[in-house]
Amino acid sequence: MTYRIAVIPGDGTGPEVVAEGLKVLKAIAGPANLKFDFIPYDLGGERYLKTGEILPASVLDELRQFKAIYLGAIGHPDVKPGILEKGILLKIRFELDQYINLRPVVLYPGVETPLKDKGPEDIDFVVVRENTEGLYVGAGGNLKHGTPDEVAVQESINTRKGVDRCLKFAFELARKRNKKKKLTLVAKTNVLTYASDLWERAFLAMAKQYPDITPDYAHVDATCMWMVKNPEWFDVLVTDNLFGDIITDLGAMVQGGMGVAAGGNINPEGVSMFEPIGGSAPKYTGLNKVNPIAAIAAAQMMLEYLGETRAAQSIEAGIKKTATMMQSMGAGRMGYTTTEVGDLVAKHALEALK
Ligand code: IPM
Ligand code: MN
Repeated sequence: MTYRIAVIPGDGTGPEVVAEGLKVLKAIAGPANLKFDFIPYDLGGERYLKTGEILPASVLDELRQFKAIYLGAIGHPDVKPGILEKGILLKIRFELDQYINLRPVVLYPGVETPLKDKGPEDIDFVVVRENTEGLYVGAGGNLKHGTPDEVAVQESINTRKGVDRCLKFAFELARKRNKKKKLTLVAKTNVLTYASDLWERAFLAMAKQYPDITPDYAHVDATCMWMVKNPEWFDVLVTDNLFGDIITDLGAMVQGGMGVAAGGNINPEGVSMFEPIGGSAPKYTGLNKVNPIAAIAAAQMMLEYLGETRAAQSIEAGIKKTATMMQSMGAGRMGYTTTEVGDLVAKHALEALK
């Protein structure tokens, strides 16, 4: 079986961390009986500045043909914020209908968390973020732009279909994880009496089909508090696009930093895209200092999604072993360079395969 994977290294440190993820995938491919065909795409700030192209329609159509997409980072200091994020990252998520943004929050042994007295046994949950609706659809508009009378309206679109398919994925995941078997809906029912109300009704209706899963609810603001105070309460969380965006940055910090946090943009019936969730970190570009663990963990998620469980588990073992050897997860403070961390994970992943 040969997997055709599109690779979008992107901007800033994206190419550096993607190189380490590819290094690990290539190292384990033979022993794990896998073949990869990696096809690079130069989407990102450099191409935009040179040619004015963001994401040509022809490229988008090519991306539809792959088994998966592996992405580094999007965002360039010389390009106005929003152009590349909307034009590449969000465009791919929407066009390929990657309606789930799956973001595990896992504290690896030996990794420091800012949470006092919490360890790996306390920090192990997954956020299922809706990825194609909500405030991200760009619905709304403005009047009298730039004047003292300006009016701006930005609307959150929530469809029953979109909410239901996201909830279904989350319930199934809670079942499959087989841990606390608890699914927490994160919303704001006390204020968002249309949107959160739809989510809550859909959630309670679907919970009846999953008697083995305990349905749980938390307001998004309280969720931020519990994630810091009692992260061990969580198993699977499900939420809308913007709330999910916000709480997963907090989640990334809880698990040791942006250098560790990976995510998958998933279309269970189509083409999914895997990425480290930290940005392009322009100030570290080319210095061989950033942490590639998040990008390598994204490669692991990609293998899980492809059904290559044994290979995925070997990468996880490689990451865990390497994490215990690193001084810190922060860029420039790891005790190793970016490429050295990649070498270590590859080595330990290979050992785990034997
Ligand atoms: C993320 C990012 C993106 C988002 C930005 C870059 C558009 O913050 O993947 O979490 O808001 O989804
Ligand atoms: Mn974000």
